[in-house]
Amino acid sequence: MSTTKRGLFITVEGNEGSGKSTQIKILADRLRSAGYDLLLSAEPGGTRIGREIRRILLHKENPELSPTAELLLMFACRAQNVDEWILPALAAGKLVLSDRFTDSTLAYQGAGRGLGSEVVLDIDRIACRGLVPDLTLCFMVDIETGLARAHARNRRSQEVETRLDEEETAFYRKVRDAYYQLANDEPERVKIIECNRPMSEIADDAWREVENFLASRIARFA
Ligand code: TMP
Repeated sequence: MSTTKRGLFITVEGNEGSGKSTQIKILADRLRSAGYDLLLSAEPGGTRIGREIRRILLHKENPELSPTAELLLMFACRAQNVDEWILPALAAGKLVLSDRFTDSTLAYQGAGRGLGSEVVLDIDRIACRGLVPDLTLCFMVDIETGLARAHARNRRSQEVETRLDEEETAFYRKVRDAYYQLANDEPERVKIIECNRPMSEIADDAWREVENFLASRIARFA
């Protein structure tokens, strides 16, 4: 099934330990079962170059990475994904599902690091050239539960990509508040999915948002 004339761009966001990765898998399966031709992207990560940049950004051996370098690397990764994967897939009419996009940078570097949303949006104009998600699902869990989960997972798997899991609680509070602010500013696009409840309920809620959105788009282009 082709989605619309241009394809559709859905992003998934979330704070630490929200269960976002599990929810993306469920969502992708449901979209494929519904007949959509999907491209799955991820940030930081995605393309081969994106995955190399991810290693620099998240490896625990890079504590000296400066906030500005961190910001620019997030966008270097995004620019590569946009040019190599996302724009061609959208031009081919696919549905692109990206694990994180610029809203993450607004939340983590803009708010969390205190660099401000202006500077983030300035670089976004260069890296993404006006590409904005059509729908953004934001999986949110309370900070204590989320960090406890993330730290337990890191210990279990002897994870090395932990550089961004070791900040002060105040950092995660700013990140979380920024996501709620985004949802408040753009209620049509950004949907908060609360995650302090059973996984199946969360998945059903997310699917409802996606179905509503797809139905409205298909009606508009019919
Ligand atoms: P992940 O755990 O969802 O793969 O994300 C890795 C970390 O990268 C997570 O702590 C959020 C962070 N991040 C940013 O700080 N800024 C960004 O722009 C992106 C895409 C992720």
